[in-house]
Amino acid sequence: MQSITDLDFGTPRRTSKKTVTLEINGVPVTVPDGSSVMYAAVAAGTNIPKLCASDNLEAFGSCRLCLVEIQGRRGFPASCTTPVEPGMKVRTESPRLAELRRGVMELYISDHPLDCLTCPANGHCELQDMAGVVGLREVRYGYEGANHLDAPKDESNTYFTFDPSKCIVCSRCVRACDEVQATFALTIDGRGFASKISAGQNQDFMDSECVSCGACVQACPTATLMEKSIYELGQPDRAVVTTCAYCGVGCSFKAEVKGNQVVRMVPNKNGHANHGHSCVKGRFAFGYATHPDRILKPMIRKSIDDTWKEVSWDEAINYVAGEFKRIRARYGRGSIGGISSSRCTNEETFLVQKLVRAVFGNNNIDTCARVCHSPTGYGLKTTFGTSAGTQEFDSVMKADVIMVIGANPTDGHPVFASQMKRRLRQGARLIVADPRAIDLVRTPHIEAEYHLSLRPGTNVALINGLAHVVVTEGLTNDAFANERCDPEEFQKWKEFVSQPKYAPEQVAVITGVPAEKIRGTAQLYATAGNAAIYYGLGVTEHSQGSTMVMGMANLAMATGNLGREGVGVSPLRGQNNVQGSCDVGSFPHEVSGYRHISDAGVRALFEKEWNVTLDPEPGLRIPNMFDAALDGSYKGMYIQGEDFVQSDPNTQHIEAALRSMELVVVQDLFLNETAKLAHVFLPGSSFLEKDGTFTNAERRIQLVRKVMPPVTGLADWEITMALANAMGYPMHYNHPSEIMDEIARLTPTFSGVSFEKLDRLGSVQWPCNDKAPEGTPTMHVGQFVRGKGKFVITEYVATDERTSRKYPLILTTGRILTQYNVGAQTRRTGNITWHQEDVLEIHPHDAEQRGIKDDGLVAVSSRAGCVVLKAKVSDRIQPGVVYTTFHHPATGTNVVTTDNSDWATNCPEYKVTAVDVCLVTNQSEWQERYRDFTDQQEALLKQREFHDRSQVVYKAALYTMTTLNPELTTDEARESLEFLSKGGR
Ligand code: SF4
Ligand code: SF4
Ligand code: SF4
Ligand code: FES
Repeated sequence: MQSITDLDFGTPRRTSKKTVTLEINGVPVTVPDGSSVMYAAVAAGTNIPKLCASDNLEAFGSCRLCLVEIQGRRGFPASCTTPVEPGMKVRTESPRLAELRRGVMELYISDHPLDCLTCPANGHCELQDMAGVVGLREVRYGYEGANHLDAPKDESNTYFTFDPSKCIVCSRCVRACDEVQATFALTIDGRGFASKISAGQNQDFMDSECVSCGACVQACPTATLMEKSIYELGQPDRAVVTTCAYCGVGCSFKAEVKGNQVVRMVPNKNGHANHGHSCVKGRFAFGYATHPDRILKPMIRKSIDDTWKEVSWDEAINYVAGEFKRIRARYGRGSIGGISSSRCTNEETFLVQKLVRAVFGNNNIDTCARVCHSPTGYGLKTTFGTSAGTQEFDSVMKADVIMVIGANPTDGHPVFASQMKRRLRQGARLIVADPRAIDLVRTPHIEAEYHLSLRPGTNVALINGLAHVVVTEGLTNDAFANERCDPEEFQKWKEFVSQPKYAPEQVAVITGVPAEKIRGTAQLYATAGNAAIYYGLGVTEHSQGSTMVMGMANLAMATGNLGREGVGVSPLRGQNNVQGSCDVGSFPHEVSGYRHISDAGVRALFEKEWNVTLDPEPGLRIPNMFDAALDGSYKGMYIQGEDFVQSDPNTQHIEAALRSMELVVVQDLFLNETAKLAHVFLPGSSFLEKDGTFTNAERRIQLVRKVMPPVTGLADWEITMALANAMGYPMHYNHPSEIMDEIARLTPTFSGVSFEKLDRLGSVQWPCNDKAPEGTPTMHVGQFVRGKGKFVITEYVATDERTSRKYPLILTTGRILTQYNVGAQTRRTGNITWHQEDVLEIHPHDAEQRGIKDDGLVAVSSRAGCVVLKAKVSDRIQPGVVYTTFHHPATGTNVVTTDNSDWATNCPEYKVTAVDVCLVTNQSEWQERYRDFTDQQEALLKQREFHDRSQVVYKAALYTMTTLNPELTTDEARESLEFLSKGGR
C-alpha cells in the first residue's frame, strides 16, 4: 500500500548538471542550477507554506504565502519564483513572515465558504491545511463584504464539478491545462477581485474544448474542482499503485480505495511513462469493473440457441477440458487452439500460449496484435533485429523534428500526445502524414509545418518519395549508414529509391500530396537535427503494412536517426499490453522473445522446463483459424479477452466461422459480441482484481497490483491454470510472480526481470538482463540488435482494393479519445456521454453530390457488406475519403471492411475499403439481423438457469415481481431487488 499524498517540491526539478549550494535556515543544501528557493527548502527538509505552487507546474507567484527572508535582500521574496544563488542564506520562519502569511490567509478565508465540515475535501484541502500551518485563528474582516460565495456551480462535466465559490484563483488549474495537458481550455477572466476561472469562452466545462483529462482537478488545492465520486463516496482510505488497462502509453496510477471500492484514480507522479498525467479513460472510466452487466458466474450451453446454465467453476472447467479432449481425439491435434488477450497481463498471456503449446499440443495461438501491429513486429525485426520500438517516450523531449505517420496521438495515446505537444511548444518542428486533418495538425500554439494529406493506401509510395529526395539531394548520413548497416544493401537501396518513378512529381500523382510538400518534408526530416518518427495503425493496417514499417526504418537508418535519444522509429501501440502479449509468445510461429518455434535449440529449452515435446510447425493465425473452421478442420477455441466479432474485419465471415465450431469458450467481463456465439462463458477479472505486469509501447514492464479480490473468485491466470490441470497437465503457480520468473528463465531479453525488481525500480524496459540489469530505454545504441542494420527494398504495390464506379469512395477507420477499441469497457462508463454512436465523416463536396447533410442516415456499402449510420459533414477529411469509428457493435463497421491483409503478417487492411455512400431511411439487413440476434441472446442470458440457491431465490423473486406487476420490465424488477437487497424500502 502507498501513502496517498506524495512529497511536493513546489516547483519543477531542474536538470542542469551545474549545482548551487545555499543555506536554508542554516542547513546547507545543494540543488541543480535554476532550482527555486522553495525547491531547495523542500530538498533540505523544510516545507514552506504555499498555495499556488506545485512541482508539476512552473511557478506563478500569485498567492504570496511562500514569502521568505534572504540575507542581504530587501523585502520578502516569494520562494517559488526566486532562483537559488550560490551562498544564499534563506530564512523560512520569523515573526514577521508568520504575520504576513496570516494576513494573506485571512483574506482568502474571508471570501471562502465556511462549510469545511461538510465539504468533500475536508481533511484533504490545502487551503484548510495552510490555515492551520500559518496559525490562523480568526478572520478580522467578517464575511459580509463583497464576495463570491453565491457563484453558481458548474456540474456539466460527467466526472467533476466546478464550484467557483471555493476558488482562490491560484491558477493551478489553468497552468495544468496549459503545461501538463496542453489543451488551453481554461483562462482567468477579469482582473483583481473580479477575476475568475473560465472554461472556453465563458462556457460550461462540457461545452468548452476541455477533454476531461482531469489535470486541473488534480491540481486544484481546494474543493473547487472535485471528482463527483468524492462527493458520492467520500475520501479514500488507502492507495494501491497500478497500471492503466486501456492504451499502450501505460500510465501508472494510484487507485485510491475505500474498502473495496475505487473512489478515484490518481495518476502516479512517479510513473515513468506518464509523470503524473492521464487521460479521461484511465482517470475516470473505471466504472465498467463494477457495472451490473458483468457476468460473475461461469455459464455453459450446448448450442448458441440454448439458454445459458450457470455452473460452478469446477463444472465449467471440467466441461471445457472434457470437450477440448473430445474434439482433439475426434478431429486431430490441430483442431483446437487459443487466443490470448492484449488486455490481460503478461503472465496470463504466457499461460494461454503455454496451454496451447504444452497441453493442446500445437501452436494454434494468436493474439489481437495480428490485427494491429504485427507488421511492426515483422518490419522492425527484419531491419533492426527487434520487434519493438526504439525509444522511450521521454526521448521526444530531445527531438528537433517529429514526424507523425498514420497515428492520431491526441485521441489514441493522449498522455504521450501532451508530452509531444510540450516539446512542439518548445520549438520542435512537426510533420503529419495522415489522410485526415487530425487535431495535431493545428491546435493551440502548434501547427504542423507539413500536413501530407495522402490518399489511403499510398504510404509506401510516399516514404519512397521522401527517401528519393534524401538520396538524390545528398542528405543521407553515409558515415552512419555505411558503418552501422550493410553498405552493399545501403547502396542498392539508394539506387532503388533514386529511380525516377519515386521522384516527388511522380509520387504526387499516386499519393495526392503536392511534390513541393514531399520535397520540403524530406529536407526537414533529414536536416533539422534529431528526427523522430512516431506511427500508428495508419501505417500497419494496410496490404503493405510491413513494407511501410521497413520503409520508415530505411529512412531513419539512411539519415542516422537511430541509436540515441531524440530520434528513432516508434510505434504507438494500441492496447495496454499488446507489446507484452507479443513479447511473451502469443504468435503461432514464435515463443517468448520472438524466437522461432522451428529452432530446435529454443524448443529444447521449453521442452525441458515444461516437460513436453513441442510441435515444431507454426500454428494457425487468426484469419486461418476462421478459414479452417469453415473448412471443418478447426473445431474448438479458447478465447481470452478478445472480441473479434466486433474488432476483426468481415464480420459475417467470422460469425459463420464461429457458428460452425463445436466449442467456443470465451473468457471475458461481459457477454460481448463473440460471447454471443459461444458455448462456454468463463467470467474474467478486471485489472483491478489481479496481480501481474503490462508492457507498454516503450517496452516498459510495469506492475499491475490487485486493488480488490476477483469478484468472480478466480483471476484469469488461475482459470487457465485450472484448465491445464483438468486436461491432465500439471500447472502450479502460487502467484503471478512465479510465472514471470519462468518467463525470465526462458527468455534472454527478460532474464533480469522480476516482480521484486519492478517493485523496487517502478518499471524496466526490456531487454533487461546481465548486460542491462536496469533495462534499456534506447535500443540499438552503437550497434543494431541484429548486428548490421538491414536496408530492404520497398517497392510500392497498389492495393487490390480499388475504387470503381460502384464503390467510388475510400473508407478509413480510427478511434476517438473517449471510447476504447470495441468500447466494451468505455461504453459502460460515463464516457458514453461524449460518444453515443459511430458516425460517418464525409467531405462537404462528396456530401453535397449525394444530398447528404449532418445527421442524415446513410448506407455505407462495400464488396463485403453494408451498414447504416449517421453522417457528419466535415472538411477534416479529404474529398473521396470517408471515415468512421468502430466503438459500437450495433454500427457493425467491420461488416464493411474486407479480408484484404498485409502480405507478410495478415494484418487486415482496415484503412482502405472501397465503398459507396447514399442516403437511406432504414438500418441495413445485417443491422436488423444483429438486433434480432442480440435480443435473442440477451433474452437467453436473462433466462439463464442459476447455479446456487441464492440465485434461485433471486430468480423466483424476479419472476414474482414481474408476474404480479406486468408493467414492470425485468430490468426495473432487477433494480428494485438490488435496491431492496441493499436495505432500501
Ligand atoms: S480536464 Fe483537462 S482539458 Fe479539461 S480543463 Fe481540466 S486540464 Fe483542461
Ligand atoms: S479552480 Fe482550483 S486550481 Fe483553479 S484557480 Fe480555483 S482554486 Fe486554483
Ligand atoms: S493515455 Fe492510455 S494509458 Fe494513459 S490514462 Fe489514457 S488510456 Fe490509460
Ligand atoms: S506558492 Fe509562491 S506565491 Fe504562491
